[in-house]
Amino acid sequence: MNEKLSLLGGDPVRKQPFAPWPVFDDRERTALEDVLCSGNWGGSPSPNRKAAELAARFAAIHDTLFAIPTSSGTAALEVALKALGVGPGDEVIVPALTYHATAYAVVACMARPVFADVCLDTACIDPDSAARLITSRTRAIIPVHYGAAIADLDALAELARSRSLAIVEDCCEAVGAQWRGRGVGSYGALGCFSFQSLKSLTAGEGGMITTSDHVLAQRCQALINGRRRLGDDCAESLLGANYRITEWQCAVLLAQLERLPAQNELRWKHAERLRAALERIPGLTPTAADPRTTRPATYVWFFKVNASVLNVSRNLFALALMAEGIPCSIGDEPVFRSPLFPLESREYRTVCELAGAAPDRSACRCPVAERLYDHELLGLPHQCLLGEEQDLDDVITAIEKVAANARTLQRAKLGLLWRALERFWHEHEFLLPLEIVLERARCYRRCIDGHRAECRVHLLMKKAVDAMVR
Ligand SMILES: Cc1ncc(COP(=O)(O)O)c(C=O)c1O
Repeated sequence: MNEKLSLLGGDPVRKQPFAPWPVFDDRERTALEDVLCSGNWGGSPSPNRKAAELAARFAAIHDTLFAIPTSSGTAALEVALKALGVGPGDEVIVPALTYHATAYAVVACMARPVFADVCLDTACIDPDSAARLITSRTRAIIPVHYGAAIADLDALAELARSRSLAIVEDCCEAVGAQWRGRGVGSYGALGCFSFQSLKSLTAGEGGMITTSDHVLAQRCQALINGRRRLGDDCAESLLGANYRITEWQCAVLLAQLERLPAQNELRWKHAERLRAALERIPGLTPTAADPRTTRPATYVWFFKVNASVLNVSRNLFALALMAEGIPCSIGDEPVFRSPLFPLESREYRTVCELAGAAPDRSACRCPVAERLYDHELLGLPHQCLLGEEQDLDDVITAIEKVAANARTLQRAKLGLLWRALERFWHEHEFLLPLEIVLERARCYRRCIDGHRAECRVHLLMKKAVDAMVR
């Protein structure tokens, strides 16, 4: 395939947007109208009517006895850790590659997040790395089921059992997934989920905690609801916040939940086609599919770009793929490097001090996570997998086109690339909704290193926004 790349002036493979997200129909409309007319809108009494129905369905899907709805995934993680009694001076092991909220929740308990490296084939926490980081202060491990992969729950459960630690599963990206025939969120003492806008089950915002432990469930309930309990007095030493979910969110989530199994299946069917296509392209490797994942769920479908085989850097590959009309992202920056989680923050410095550790990067050594983020990972958002077969044909054609033209791309002069990028923005981006433009601008910015490049991207972004506002 030798057609000219869109980034270098050729025709893009894909000119129309992918399936819209979120998906909704009259089910959501009716459910929201029900809430409106009931006058019962908020989270009190907790759990409220629709919240209780949602919790029961969610627990059944994930094979736990209890589910406690929350206002967000971040709140779910914080509450789960507090329910376990994690506090000042404690340490909690988290993977380096995750959305920073996983580590933030630890800091919110005044405990110190300790960053473990990830596995090269799944980008999920490496149990051996986690084992090496355990100290007398460690209270828990938070495996994150990242992108479309599930962390090795067998190895982690064994590690936690042998070292008397708790596991809190971060399932924010894995709603509906099963490991060995049982729901994620049922392997740890607690599991935490997110219903934020981009997630595969969404109400814009929202979260859930799953557990089969009655006492932990009661504590979570007290922590999200201003310390009010459901009955038994097992929350004696806790301070509660207001992390309640609203009836609006639950109404939407109940409707969304009906579509989830079919959506998860479709995403996976398409992901498997993509996997087969990528396996035929030297230099591209899909992240590993573990046979113990008996019901997959996809949030971002990651694959790896091998620059030395393809003769093009991952960043250039990503830019070229975006220019072909395929949205993609390079994932989350290792948390300890992320601007979203500044190591200089007072909170982080304080929790390090409480745990007797240095608050700088010297304690954060995760070469695999850094290698994956800096050079290899590239992910497709789940919406790309939710459309028709033709949509997937376009994704595959675009990936094949970029791979086949990789050498040309690498040889192209930077100036030429910028002009092509600028043209691409002018021709396509102005037609897209603002939030997509901004998201893509962020992707470009992450893809291109260097101060000068950043300024150019800001300039392009400003032009795009100005043109739309006019
Ligand atoms: C892995 C992971 N953990 C935690 C969160 C936080 O969830 P929320 O945005 O609902 O607070 C997210 C999502 O944003 C996530 O992807």
